[in-house]
Amino acid sequence: MNQKKIIFKTPHALASTFAEQLVNISLSREIIHVALSGGSTPKLLFNILANKYKNHDWSRIHFYWGDERCVGPHDSESNYAMAKKLFFDHVNIANNQIFRIFGENNPKQEAKRYGDLLFDLLPIVNDLPCFDLIYLGMGEDGHTASIFPHEIELMTLQKVCSVATHPVSGQKRVTLTGPIINNARSIVFLITGKAKYPRIKSILKEQCGFERFPAAHIQPTHGQLTWYLDEAAYEDT
Ligand code: 6PG
Repeated sequence: MNQKKIIFKTPHALASTFAEQLVNISLSREIIHVALSGGSTPKLLFNILANKYKNHDWSRIHFYWGDERCVGPHDSESNYAMAKKLFFDHVNIANNQIFRIFGENNPKQEAKRYGDLLFDLLPIVNDLPCFDLIYLGMGEDGHTASIFPHEIELMTLQKVCSVATHPVSGQKRVTLTGPIINNARSIVFLITGKAKYPRIKSILKEQCGFERFPAAHIQPTHGQLTWYLDEAAYEDT
């Protein structure tokens, strides 16, 4: 597996470097298909993009999500609402560049709709839609996108999108599954904070039982996996 990790002194340095990566790929002549993550880590990235790159030409990037909570697009829980508030509303991005998951829809119907949409819009590689770049976070329990340890079968489910359930809140989610995530040209984990360290160490050092964590199964079939970690999240001891 083509994998590397980059350690940053601070979350700001990590987010700044990834922002530059997004800017660089946006200079492509082709349309670039990028899936965003939810959670709190993207907030710093979005703030950097909305300020330092406020006047950048984002027209070559089409934005998707790796997962979405089954809530409306204005809900404080919505991954789309966060990206819109912190990023899209501050830069020149047209609505036809944004392909949100309709969290307000019936979850099963939306998983089908979004999966079909990805087949229609993305290049097909190995019989699956192929993202140019997927940005992922990781929870302290080792989940990624909305694939949680208690539903790890979603890492191998032969569907592009599925309904998932948060293990604590019971909240329904729509998530990309393992096969389409692993079919991307580039997968980037952005992970910060000391609380993530035990799980990162377990996965990267393949410690006993690491296979129970969904993030451990992010293994691109033909692309590159890059772990962007801050020093708090990875003490290379
Ligand atoms: C979500 C995310 C989820 C997130 C991790 C890490 O919808 O919540 O897609 O996978 O990336 O939970 O979240 P933090 O960035 O808040 O640690």
